[in-house]
Amino acid sequence: MTETGRGSDSTLPEDSRSSEDAARKRTSRLRELDNAHVWHPFTAMEAYREEEAPIIIAAEDFFLIDDTGQRYLDGHSSLWCNIHGHRVPAIDQAITQQLNKVAHSTLLGLSNEPSIELAAELVRRAPAGLNKVFYADCGAAGVEVALKLAFQYHRQKRGGPQERNLFACLGKAYHGDTVGTISLGGIDRFHSLFGSLMFPALRIPTPAAWGPEQSDALEQQLRDHADQLAGFVIEPLVQAAAGIVVHPVGYLKAVRELTRKYGILMIADEIAVGFGRTGRMFACEHEQVSPDILILSKGLTGGYLPLAATLVTDEIYEAFLGEPWAGRTFQHGHTYTGNPLACAAALASLQLFDDNDLLANVRCLEATIRDELAILTEPATRSDIRAIQSHVAEIRQRGVMVGIDLVLDRQSGAPFPATWRVGHRITVNCRNHGVILRNIGDTVVLMPAPAMPKELVTTLCRTVIQAMTQVLPDLQIPDRPAN
Ligand SMILES: Cc1ncc(COP(=O)(O)O)c(C=O)c1O
Repeated sequence: MTETGRGSDSTLPEDSRSSEDAARKRTSRLRELDNAHVWHPFTAMEAYREEEAPIIIAAEDFFLIDDTGQRYLDGHSSLWCNIHGHRVPAIDQAITQQLNKVAHSTLLGLSNEPSIELAAELVRRAPAGLNKVFYADCGAAGVEVALKLAFQYHRQKRGGPQERNLFACLGKAYHGDTVGTISLGGIDRFHSLFGSLMFPALRIPTPAAWGPEQSDALEQQLRDHADQLAGFVIEPLVQAAAGIVVHPVGYLKAVRELTRKYGILMIADEIAVGFGRTGRMFACEHEQVSPDILILSKGLTGGYLPLAATLVTDEIYEAFLGEPWAGRTFQHGHTYTGNPLACAAALASLQLFDDNDLLANVRCLEATIRDELAILTEPATRSDIRAIQSHVAEIRQRGVMVGIDLVLDRQSGAPFPATWRVGHRITVNCRNHGVILRNIGDTVVLMPAPAMPKELVTTLCRTVIQAMTQVLPDLQIPDRPAN
């Protein structure tokens, strides 16, 4: 892809110069207003204001288009949620048709057509036994629903310890940014500041290897707290925000068996890994696991509209039944719960999985990415590649989820100084070459949409490698200590 060109051209005819002028005015107005009024999430605002990041005004297929007309390949699925590309006719049409009926009506004591159809469709596709669907409007809210449901369930179920106030979570967990979900969080950069706001949780080490020794240690931790634990919240197979940390095979199944053994609800957060990203519709399927609670969001609507769904078993649901005055009702809900437009988009998105055999495409993309990135770790003939290999600590991949860890020195594992913002520089370089990504610290994350064509995924990988060859050798790297 070519370098972004935003300069003026005095040889242009009069009318194109005036339309360029108009475009430039619009850009500077939008940028001024953005800097004046918009506070961007997870964004260092002082640096951002200097940066002139793209202002997206349109999209087409797998490209985002900014206010200057520059096109960018959407290399992170618009923060891990886009599935089929942008402006997909079938989803656009489903939303428009729904818009012609009703845009919103509450689910509190009422129902609406798309939320009913979607619940049935999700139950049909989800791992067996998850028969009831509770809607919310973002991933974190979906996790909050799961936590409160689990907490209340134990108090209302028949038999067994009922005062269970503790949740288990993985060491490097990320489940959202509400106070409840950060209480389960284990990523220092995001969470440590808020420690005194959080409720206590049982931290289970993020598994690096899996065998009898690790299995015994996990069992002991769960057994020791069995009477207090309401649930074990886990991202199946891949911890995305931890930097695409991939779990060893067999871990998920073991968590299922142990949670069942000790009466602890297994709560699977498939907000990032669900909807095909790992090569199966749901990551739990890889190890034939049915959790007690499954949380979906992000890709649920194809990446179009905010929606979350928390699926539970009949056993959990039935603990909430009783006379209205008996105090067993789940007293929780959000204004836009089960929004008809979002549910209509989700139904259309699910249909496209079948129509386009999307899971087969993910398996093909998985191989393409692996082949393209192999150059970073295998003996290389290209001198520019050899020059950067010492900075590639690890590449982790599952399906179309990829994390590339960059370090100052692979041998010692020494990280780059944070002030160098190496991951961010790679992101900006990619953007200048027409690819949008978002790094997590010095981990470069690739997250193409499951439906992206192979050629575009190849472009994505090659642009990232090119960015590394352009950014890494230019850094002020001190001499490696002689050992
Ligand atoms: C695994 C996981 N859980 C929860 C969330 C929170 O979702 P949301 O940002 O929609 O609140 C995210 C977001 O990245 C996530 O990756």
